[in-house]
Amino acid sequence: MTGVRKNIAVLPGDGIGPEVTRAAIQLLQDCAAAFGHRFQFRDYAFGGNAIDSHGVPLPPQTLAACRASDAVLLGAIGGPKWESLPFGTRPEAGLLGIRKEMGLYINLRPIRLRPALRGISPLRPERLGECDFEIVRELAGDIYFGEHKITKEKASDVAEYSVPEIERVARYAFERATARNKHLTSVDKANVLASSTLWRDTVSVLAREYPSVTVDHLYVDNASMQILLRPTQFDVILTGNMFGDILSDEAAALAGSIGLIPSLSRGRTDQPALYEPIHGSAPTLAGKDVACPLGAVFSATLMLRESFGLKAESEWIESAVDRALARGYRTADIAGAGDRVVGGSEFTQAIRNELHAAARQAERSSFGG
Ligand code: IPM
Ligand code: MG
Repeated sequence: MTGVRKNIAVLPGDGIGPEVTRAAIQLLQDCAAAFGHRFQFRDYAFGGNAIDSHGVPLPPQTLAACRASDAVLLGAIGGPKWESLPFGTRPEAGLLGIRKEMGLYINLRPIRLRPALRGISPLRPERLGECDFEIVRELAGDIYFGEHKITKEKASDVAEYSVPEIERVARYAFERATARNKHLTSVDKANVLASSTLWRDTVSVLAREYPSVTVDHLYVDNASMQILLRPTQFDVILTGNMFGDILSDEAAALAGSIGLIPSLSRGRTDQPALYEPIHGSAPTLAGKDVACPLGAVFSATLMLRESFGLKAESEWIESAVDRALARGYRTADIAGAGDRVVGGSEFTQAIRNELHAAARQAERSSFGG
């Protein structure tokens, strides 16, 4: 097999962002060495650190490099240092800016439990079941991108969706469901909101093109309850930007920790996608080497699979993570009684040890030894 060459733009960001992206890059480098690929990584300023160095959270050079890359790996952004800045100039504006500028209208958040971590979910095992579903969140519209107005007396935010905006993300969700268990749950607030009424109508019309997929519509308040009561009923959840933001944190908690969940943000298939853990920059943990790198690591394995078509490589890393977890290695946030609590870098090293052992094993068997 001939290796591939990929150019990955890295936006380490703020807080624990640099630590967790470093871990993901180390594993990607090990993977490249073992499989004969060439991944080139280059860091760019983004978020709070870019405000400090360039005066804006999304410098034009960063955006240009991301657009020219094969994929983007992002850590996390923000922190108390930049919280008092005016609305629209904070690190978060960089995140919304890059989503908009790169045309990233789909956000996929897979909610999957690692077998060794079942015990850390707050939900009782009989309720939790296998807990393997995906949230497809619309990422470029809704109340996030409508007009925001504020005076001393009054403030408003506009929630807006057009039919094409709903269709393009819904198609992706239907395709995911087709490839999985053929069940799509569309979540809205159509009993109150006009934008949700259009959402529901558009999804219903589109459903005719996907007769093999069963479609349910849930109001968001009910959906948030159902995720806790019976998560096994879900296969693919499709929802708008605002509801997707909220439901994905809730679902991540079910899978044990928000620190474990990766995400893919993408637009058209001929454009680069962006991968990031869904957790924040956790300023209180930054620099202490305690943060769990798995959200970033699984973002990297999602990148291998979804952007580069390297499924075996992706599974090679994920199974090494599972073996390290099975040996009891944990960062403090995902540890239980009897686990071997280690720092983020020792945890990453434990995964690398598993990778290296697997690579040696493969070498021995290919030489017939
Ligand atoms: C997320 C985050 C962002 C969002 C914030 C940081 C702007 O919560 O990616 O889920 O609301 O989309
Ligand atoms: Mg969020």
